[in-house]
Amino acid sequence: MEVTSDRRPCDQVRVRVPATSANLGPGFDAFGLALTLYDDLIVTPGGSGVTVEVSGAGEGEVPLDESHLVVQAIRRGLEALGASVPGFTLRCENRIPHGRGLGSSSAAIVGGLAAAYGLAGEPLDRERLVVLANELEGHPDNVAAAALGGFTIAWTEGETGRAVRLDTVDGLAAAAYVPDNRVLTKEARGLLPTVVSHSDAAANAGKAALLVAAVTGRPELLLTATEDLLHQEYREPAMPESLALVHKLRGSGLPAIVSGAGPTVVVLGRPDPAAASSGPQSPGKSAGQSFFRGAPPAPDGWTRHDLGIDPVGVQVWSMEAG
Ligand SMILES: Nc1ncnc2c1ncn2[C@@H]1O[C@H](COP(=O)(O)OP(=O)(O)OP(=O)(O)O)[C@@H](O)[C@H]1O
Ligand SMILES: [Mg+2]
Repeated sequence: MEVTSDRRPCDQVRVRVPATSANLGPGFDAFGLALTLYDDLIVTPGGSGVTVEVSGAGEGEVPLDESHLVVQAIRRGLEALGASVPGFTLRCENRIPHGRGLGSSSAAIVGGLAAAYGLAGEPLDRERLVVLANELEGHPDNVAAAALGGFTIAWTEGETGRAVRLDTVDGLAAAAYVPDNRVLTKEARGLLPTVVSHSDAAANAGKAALLVAAVTGRPELLLTATEDLLHQEYREPAMPESLALVHKLRGSGLPAIVSGAGPTVVVLGRPDPAAASSGPQSPGKSAGQSFFRGAPPAPDGWTRHDLGIDPVGVQVWSMEAG
């Protein structure tokens, strides 16, 4: 196979799309971070319907027809681009766990839209990707990080999803503690109050601004900058073990937050140089060795993923059978 450089429709499209952590504490519905844990999609055009194959996360659970989230996103992307690809085979190799707060739905949507660009022979327009993905996802924080990589600040203008991307400080990494159980985003959102106090809102705004500084250049401020008063504690009834883990980690000086709508807990920081062999250069599951100084291994029933920051967001390769 060779990679095509022109804009004509291709024989196969490959997509790699990162997991994302949204909120990061005080940046509720705005901040996102792209992580080096990926779903891979392989789309081969042909025929008139869809064939879907899934391995890894969601295997045996997600539908294998037109209602599959990636298929819906491919269809929406093709429509937006004015391209016609009636049928295709979609192969999903999924590593991002579903319903855990690591942006699997955003990865599916951003990955599917990006695949549509590849199928249409169009270069990726990442700003438009955020707009289209926000329409499908309903909020822009995870889709922004999946589309742009790095650290993102997302917002909406009217109904339109927007985002800016910032480089993270060198060596920033994330340890993601993922429990076996799921929490659906809708359920976690239902626990939030409709009104918060002025003092909580003011404190959160200050911490969110500080977190931008911490993530981009002042990692020593991460512990205080990740304090949140708007959402995490309210969600405790839906994920008591996650909040207990956040409290325990923060109590030992580690900047732990609930990832997205939970229940995954993420610790941000820079790896202990003494444990560099398990650092972000070799992302993947950790067997419990110390990634950050003093970070405990995953509790029973949880898995710890030691991850780096993905700097580029979704990637697409258009292949031509050689
Ligand atoms: N790769 C995928 N392929 C098909 N469907 C998916 C895929 N990823 C997610 N989904 C759908 O989205 C659901 C999970 O979405 P949900 O928003 O609740 O969790 P999440 O995206 O993993 O976490 P969060 O939004 O809190 O970061 C799955 O149960 C499935 O229906
Ligand atoms: Mg989601």
